[in-house]
Amino acid sequence: MAAKLSLKLKNFMQPIRPPLTIFLLGATGDLAKKKILPAIFQLFKKGVLSNNFQLIGMARRPMTHQQFQNYVNKIVSPIVKDADWSKFSQNLFYVSGDLTNAESYKELKHCHQQLQACGNHLWYVATLPKLYLDVIRNIKELSLEKTACGWTKFLLEKPFGTDLVSSQLLNRELLQVFAEDQIYRIDHFLAKETIQNLMVFRFGNGIFEHLWNRHHVDNIQITVAEQMGINERADFYDSIGVVRDVVQNHLLQMLTMTLMEEPVDLQPKTIHTHRMQFLSQLEVLDPITNPGKVVFGQYDQGTLDGKLVKAYRQEAAELSNSLTPTAIAAKLCVNSKRWQGTPIYLRAGKRLAQSVAEITIQFKEPINEMFKKHGIVQRGNLLTLRIQPNEGVVLRMNVKKPGLDLNMSQVPMQFCYKSEFQMGLVEAYQKLIYDAAQGDPTLFPQALDIEASWRVIQPTLDYLQDGDHQPDLYRAGSWGPPSFAKLLARDNRHWSEPSPGICNF
Ligand code: BG6
Repeated sequence: MAAKLSLKLKNFMQPIRPPLTIFLLGATGDLAKKKILPAIFQLFKKGVLSNNFQLIGMARRPMTHQQFQNYVNKIVSPIVKDADWSKFSQNLFYVSGDLTNAESYKELKHCHQQLQACGNHLWYVATLPKLYLDVIRNIKELSLEKTACGWTKFLLEKPFGTDLVSSQLLNRELLQVFAEDQIYRIDHFLAKETIQNLMVFRFGNGIFEHLWNRHHVDNIQITVAEQMGINERADFYDSIGVVRDVVQNHLLQMLTMTLMEEPVDLQPKTIHTHRMQFLSQLEVLDPITNPGKVVFGQYDQGTLDGKLVKAYRQEAAELSNSLTPTAIAAKLCVNSKRWQGTPIYLRAGKRLAQSVAEITIQFKEPINEMFKKHGIVQRGNLLTLRIQPNEGVVLRMNVKKPGLDLNMSQVPMQFCYKSEFQMGLVEAYQKLIYDAAQGDPTLFPQALDIEASWRVIQPTLDYLQDGDHQPDLYRAGSWGPPSFAKLLARDNRHWSEPSPGICNF
């Protein structure tokens, strides 16, 4: 099965033109470990990266090339086969360095010159956002943005800046070194298969698009919940919190893909413009002028999968007095003809009851009196787009319950990737590295949509920054503090709890 799958993907993904050097800055960080290095290894296994590629990792930790190879081996060992590994490991190199110091880039340059003459360069910046400007300036100082015989692409991870002003500065500095079409800003949720499917699902099915508006939709909910805590990322996480970590990027991009207008073609530029236009129509999220529209939580200790887990403030000594929110619930509105007045509820956080990401479209109750007159309760249809895990789409419909009497019941009609397509989904990081190398910017947010999304949350950041705002504590393993439920109760609504049963075979 696995062999077949990899063959299929080989046919589908074209090899990236060698020789290729990937410069991975932040090579020993959490993201490199969890996502980037496994994705690069998988691309190598699938033949997308040829033997004529090399990866030079750079991070502070002192390591030799051999030690770095051992380090990567441990990361990819669950997916490794001996033959693949021995070929792959020969392409791994390491420079220990300080990303703020130009001397380190001299060593990186030296290491690269010794390895190979000339080719394509892919820079992947997976480090703390506060280091981005130093990275860009050092690359410029050492003229590393150029390659005499190939292309250079510059990939960087969200969050892009820490607020609107810093993201504008970052964009300006980036454009002094690279052209816009060399810059690939990564928001990996845009590359999740079910998010990519939104365009096809909405615009390729005549039955949905004409219902996709305020006349038929009662409310929209987006949940990105994780059981995981902050792992060893105390320093990183405490400096950004849930708003910068997932709302400014993943949640707003998911929302955009769900609600934006139909593009006239599939050109990346057209899609980017539509994304940006939608984001500019979102009302800003301001806890001061709209109290109660956004509430913050922080996890306390609790039980998850039968195990006692620590409170956020117990995760590291420096967090003992932290006010950083680890969860958020918010209500947003869109200033557009199509969506005016339709509430959007967002919820995200760490150490919540389930690890699940989904979008639900709650349709309005049908307008008819006949069932009501007979005391039969009917509910509006509910469409759930399950992003992960168990990817799929479920539409809940009302049917007559079998029996002698007339009773109504809501039943699911579901499409599941797992059962429908006999192939695995292309993992988001593999897709993005591949697309960047092949020069397809469709799934990458652009400077203007990023700035538009910072604008939406800037008042929230100012509010959190300014005062002594205690987030509401919630028990790890719960669905957040009571204030999350209250936010919807005020509108006579409730959160639609993700069903663990969706596409779960
Ligand atoms: C990252 C966030 O962007 O997304 C993490 O920084 C979060 O805090 C992660 O855990 C979730 O992504 P995925 O794909 O692992 O669900």
